[in-house]
Amino acid sequence: MNDKTKQTNAVAAPYPGDPMAIAARRDAPTGRASRLTDAMAFLRGFIAHPLEVASVVPSSVFLEARVVQAADLAQARCVVELGPGTGGTTRALLRALPPQARLLAIEVNPGFCGRLRRLIDDPRLVVHAGSAESLAEALRRRGLPPPDVVVSGIPFSTLPPDSAERIAEAIHANLAPGGRVVAYQWRPRVAGYLAPLLGPPRAAWEWRSLPPMRVFVWVKPAAASGTPNPSSPDAAAPSAMHGAPGPAALAHAKPWPNDRSPP
Ligand SMILES: C[S@@+](CC[C@H](N)C(=O)[O-])C[C@H]1O[C@@H](n2cnc3c(N)ncnc32)[C@H](O)[C@@H]1O
Repeated sequence: MNDKTKQTNAVAAPYPGDPMAIAARRDAPTGRASRLTDAMAFLRGFIAHPLEVASVVPSSVFLEARVVQAADLAQARCVVELGPGTGGTTRALLRALPPQARLLAIEVNPGFCGRLRRLIDDPRLVVHAGSAESLAEALRRRGLPPPDVVVSGIPFSTLPPDSAERIAEAIHANLAPGGRVVAYQWRPRVAGYLAPLLGPPRAAWEWRSLPPMRVFVWVKPAAASGTPNPSSPDAAAPSAMHGAPGPAALAHAKPWPNDRSPP
């Protein structure tokens, strides 16, 4: 690891750095990898760990844009990304993140972690090598507050169910009140794990991805009103139950149970 890399990924107190300097860097390219070299590294990762990576190509620019819009990052202070892969989504989140915010990226594949550390030069980013199940520990080790936003690229459909359940519980337990979860998947399995904890999501398809992807959004109740009961009458009206999701993010999204798009 060279000095620059060490500095970039050093464990730091929350929101360090000179905001002006960080703001200046936001407009500069955040990585030296091209989409092609990212795609090649991603494919190698898939060949080595097909069930963990669960896709042969990284997310499209269209999906990245939809995820960033759904994450509504303008006021975010601490954001967690689960499953950043080769970093396309990570770079897109960093471009939208306020200068003093932090992005904790938790990735189980050590090769992907090495690439993220080497190629994304942004002091707001902390890369944690390990499973998303260890979200609480990763936040605690960096002294980070409960995240305002959790973005998940985790392939819930191909994970062992007990691991998927632990990840869903970790997301719910660590998310700040009023915080938001954005998860993208082709299959709706992630909603099966998170809906019992956070209520029915809003969902929208991104058709310009291969394969097309669903983007699910939940907003945790701001008040500590306990776990929503999906069978209650309120559960049929997720936007009312979950406070006020950002208007732009959910403008075209539908309540998931009414989404009649293909599975
Ligand atoms: C479908 S890829 C998404 C990659 C990237 N975010 C994108 O959109 O191109 C899923 C990623 O989740 C990672 N992953 C799978 N299981 C994980 C776990 N339990 N904890 C953390 N990351 C995991 C994989 O290694 C892979 O990088």
